[in-house]
Amino acid sequence: MKKKVIFDCDPGHDDALALMLAVHHLDVLGVSTIGGNCSLEHVTKNALKIMELTGHPEIPVYAGHSCPMVAPLVTAPEFHGPDGLGGVDLPAPKIQAQKMHAVDFIVETARQFGRADDDRLTVIATGPLTNIAAAINRAPDIVEHIKEISLMGGSVSFGNWTPAAEFNIFVDPEAAYRVFNSGIHIKMSGLNLTRQWPIGDAEIERVRKIGTRAADKAADMLAFFVDSSAKAENFREGLLHDPCAVAWLIKPELVKSVSMHITVELKGEFTRGMTVCDSRHLRTPKPEVDYAREPRLGRQPGGREANAEAGMELDGEGCMDLLCETIGEII
Ligand code: BDR
Ligand code: CA
Repeated sequence: MKKKVIFDCDPGHDDALALMLAVHHLDVLGVSTIGGNCSLEHVTKNALKIMELTGHPEIPVYAGHSCPMVAPLVTAPEFHGPDGLGGVDLPAPKIQAQKMHAVDFIVETARQFGRADDDRLTVIATGPLTNIAAAINRAPDIVEHIKEISLMGGSVSFGNWTPAAEFNIFVDPEAAYRVFNSGIHIKMSGLNLTRQWPIGDAEIERVRKIGTRAADKAADMLAFFVDSSAKAENFREGLLHDPCAVAWLIKPELVKSVSMHITVELKGEFTRGMTVCDSRHLRTPKPEVDYAREPRLGRQPGGREANAEAGMELDGEGCMDLLCETIGEII
């Protein structure tokens, strides 16, 4: 049976590719949108377009918050274009967003799940965490019904939006703090992980050669992302951040992770939005470390119990194979 999930996102080229993976392999009960890469209006329209492109117009889309809890909204047009899906020509969607607010959808859906381990809901989050934090604030009981949140955000190493902070966490640090400290188990696909799946011209070509309409649009997404990264970051390579959080759920063997305590810096002059990862137990965070080896869990002196699994090693080629196989199966 397919895993039942809610997918909260701000599409966004890499969100769109992550949605393609999710609707194909998981039972997506609904997509909720959040202002982030672009305005709420645009990201919601983009989510609707992707549901149509992937042949899933029946999956409901719910618009959520248009801005963060405290901070003003920051968007990323330099990476995603003025409408969030720059360079990708998709028709205006025929389907519409639901009337229900995304936060109500998250609360109501979570409450339909049980509290037993196998009976709980999984949430995927690939944008700022405002909707999820708002849902937890509105209905703290949902924490018991959510098994885990697989999110793209943060980093065990350095940031991208600032030297310390990754974009999704930087946009709404207060929401991220609430989510990381909610008691819900977190699978964190941070930048230290997503940097292990770079995309260049060879990958664009591989996707384009699949030859279907979905593949053509996916190749356009990759091409725009690579070009914008070249202009904005001076690297001729795009990083498929958001699909990592989905690939981890579909094929857990693609990711090696370590349990640790993670929280979010709210006050630092230079570090606001940084994920503060207690990785002291790794001692030597080198590639040859066997992350699966026990005992590596446990609380560090003066530290707090692990609340998250941080992705550390990614099989980028395996992820690319999964993406291509999936796109090839979209009719
Ligand atoms: C994250 O920021 C967004 O621009 C991407 O969609 C991804 O979720 C990477 O920092
Ligand atoms: Ca995103």
